[in-house]
Amino acid sequence: MKIESRLAQIGSIQEPKTGAVSFPVYNATAFRHPKLGESTGFDYTRTKNPTRSVLEDAAAQLESGDAGFACSSGMAALHVVLSLFSQGDHLIVSLDLYGGTYRLLEKIMTRFGVTASYVDTNDIDAMSELCTPNTKAILIETPTNPLMMITDIERVSAWAKSKGLLTIVDNTLLTPFFQRPIELGADIVVHSATKYLGGHNDVLAGLIVSKGKELSEQIGFLHNSIGAVLGAQDSWLLMRGMKTLALRMERHQYNATRIAEYLLEHESIEEVFYPALPSHPGYEVQSRQSSGNTGIFSFKVKDARYIEPILRHIKLIAFAESLGGVESLMTYPAVQTHADIPLEIRQKVGVDDKLLRFSVGIEHVDDLIADLDQALAAAKREIEEA
Ligand SMILES: Cc1ncc(COP(=O)(O)O)c(C=O)c1O
Repeated sequence: MKIESRLAQIGSIQEPKTGAVSFPVYNATAFRHPKLGESTGFDYTRTKNPTRSVLEDAAAQLESGDAGFACSSGMAALHVVLSLFSQGDHLIVSLDLYGGTYRLLEKIMTRFGVTASYVDTNDIDAMSELCTPNTKAILIETPTNPLMMITDIERVSAWAKSKGLLTIVDNTLLTPFFQRPIELGADIVVHSATKYLGGHNDVLAGLIVSKGKELSEQIGFLHNSIGAVLGAQDSWLLMRGMKTLALRMERHQYNATRIAEYLLEHESIEEVFYPALPSHPGYEVQSRQSSGNTGIFSFKVKDARYIEPILRHIKLIAFAESLGGVESLMTYPAVQTHADIPLEIRQKVGVDDKLLRFSVGIEHVDDLIADLDQALAAAKREIEEA
């Protein structure tokens, strides 16, 4: 069955008792045992909940993995995955990545003796140099947040396998509708399901999908032991969002491409970072490994003085953090989503004071371009008059 059909049908044929097409929300935290030594398969909700299980099975299937785990946020999902590692272990991580992931690695995992080196994850020589006997995994975002750098998943996971490393891919920006890293050789996929999977800026959630029995058992143990699991109500809300993922991703992609092309030609814009543009350095790899493009991109204005008035003048587009929802949001990574990354690293990567990140929603593209156009014109006027 095609992915569009599988998405639309999440949970709809799993309730044989009533035939409900929307799977019920099981709020129970405890489940009766038929007798000593027997279980219905559900004992305690942290370990397994019927509503969450439907979501987890759907996630595993959509990402071509063996097991899925729903967590209370994307960060909780990353924390569970990083808990696979122990004192002395070392990870190789994308140079450009979500600031919260960097914070988790640098401010929390280091306290447990787990360290990370940040590198361009297409540079196999640089990664080989960083690899020590203690290196256990490579963690990549592709595209990265916010600079949209692309990593060749197949090439990197083949290299990781040859070194005995796990490949972990944060697939938040593309979702399994456009990209399935496990099919390309990855071992674990992580999502901030708060973003495109939920899709409506109204549910905080994370997902993990793993390949292989032993690895899935280890993650299952950590998921239950750490306990940052997704509640039944939010599991249902996430599934409701996922049913329309295909339609939304196509519209996000269409709108983002049109707007990126518009900005590329705009006199006040210095650079547009969007892998759907043939000028993007990752265009060829992205076109090969994904069937489409995300709805988020970043762009640099020519003069940092534009930033404040642009954010003040946008009306339809909200000045807000987060991404992947039906409503368009614009954020300033240097002081918001990526503020926890030290200045010298941000500057090295390019997350500087001229960069804006735009999560393009599903509104009519003409309205979004009109909003941007008036905000850019107002910003230009103010700067010229100052
Ligand atoms: C790529 C990526 N991974 C993980 C996260 C963390 O997810 P959450 O905010 O759901 O905890 C985010 C949040 O913005 C993200 O953009």
